[in-house]
Amino acid sequence: MTRTLVASGFHAPVRGAIQEFRDAVFVLDDTGTILSMTEGAPVPDGATRLPHSHILLPGFVDLHIHAPQYPQLGTALDVPLQDWLQIHTFPLEARYADLTFARAVYETLVSDLLAMGTTTAVYYATVHVPATQLLADICLTQGQRAFVGKVAMDDPAACPPTYRDASTDEAVTGTRAVIDHIRHHPGNAAGLVQPIITPRFIPACTDETLAALGALAAETGVRVQTHVSESDWEHAHVQTRHGISDAASLDRFGLMTPHAVLAHGTHLSPADMDLIHTRGACVAHCPLSNAYFAGAIFPLRAALERGLHLGLGSDISGGPSGNLWDAARMAVAASRIREGGTDAADPTRGDPGARVDFRTAFYLATAGGGAALGLPIGHFAPGMQFDAIAIDPTAPLGTIRLWPGQTGEVVLEKVLHTAARANIAAVWVAGRPVKP
Ligand code: GUN
Ligand code: FE
Repeated sequence: MTRTLVASGFHAPVRGAIQEFRDAVFVLDDTGTILSMTEGAPVPDGATRLPHSHILLPGFVDLHIHAPQYPQLGTALDVPLQDWLQIHTFPLEARYADLTFARAVYETLVSDLLAMGTTTAVYYATVHVPATQLLADICLTQGQRAFVGKVAMDDPAACPPTYRDASTDEAVTGTRAVIDHIRHHPGNAAGLVQPIITPRFIPACTDETLAALGALAAETGVRVQTHVSESDWEHAHVQTRHGISDAASLDRFGLMTPHAVLAHGTHLSPADMDLIHTRGACVAHCPLSNAYFAGAIFPLRAALERGLHLGLGSDISGGPSGNLWDAARMAVAASRIREGGTDAADPTRGDPGARVDFRTAFYLATAGGGAALGLPIGHFAPGMQFDAIAIDPTAPLGTIRLWPGQTGEVVLEKVLHTAARANIAAVWVAGRPVKP
């Protein structure tokens, strides 16, 4: 069975170039794969035609989310990373031993993210196996494409006794249990949800656990996610402990695998970036979180020019917004601050040429994230999955105000910078309507 949908909109298959399409006829198969996309083709009977004013965009790919931190979104942002983890975050995450609490948070989070157009999410859960399995179940029920990982963290020097894996064996056994649950889930035949091996970051793990998880990735072929060189403190911890950079150390433990998602990377050296690129891993740029915790602005333009695979992350709750719209806006703003510099009294301030614009931010939120993950998502073409957002720029309760004469790319620019939840009229994952 095929379905046909007719829509106009924008996508960015290649960074820097926006493509607009008008009255494109999409033919989808029942797995949500686009069989054809033809502008101006005859519209068959039974086709769904989006309202003329609606704007179709690819769904957003959020490469870095801590699902259990959703309750503290918008709070607890008054201390540095290492204190934030101990004072606020580990005690909150410890509560996911309680499945009733976990269900309430995870159902709300997944539905809020889908409503905002996040069609693919790369999640950290907690150390708890049952709550992590529940998050995967909820993604499947609500139809969100996702990677879901049980957090591994076992170093007693860094993790409280109430919230850590008791041993390397517990970290590995729990990770295996979640991999098996997701791989053999009866509702996951299409592989919409995939497991991901998740050592929290080097400072929270013993060397034995890092090595065991690297071996598990090699054995199972399961993807890896972790944090890399996020802040001065984190970067220096690894340098002092292992005598090499964070990226080089992850690589030595076998954790820098193809499509591994490394969050932040604000303190990566050019050599680290080249190593990540060579391994086929990617960086999740989380500019809003970086403003609070990184102590530096990620050199986005330089990283793109080195060919690094990059996408965006909200890093819930490392910044006060959980959606990728704000991540895209902040990516542009942060690059402008990096270009201009911060201290008017310093005549050498700034980084000439560091800025990116809305075209790059839109690419990173969609095709960039999809390519970083190596999935057929992020733009529209035959063979790609139909993961999409329909924007209604005329929604009275929305925040987009288009004026006569605003056409073409300016419409996308306006949408990207000013859309709100009320402007999101429909969302699809794998061709299935998923907007709550
Ligand atoms: N590093 C280790 N854990 C975390 C976390 O939960 N959030 C952020 N931003 N960085 C981390
Ligand atoms: Fe994070």
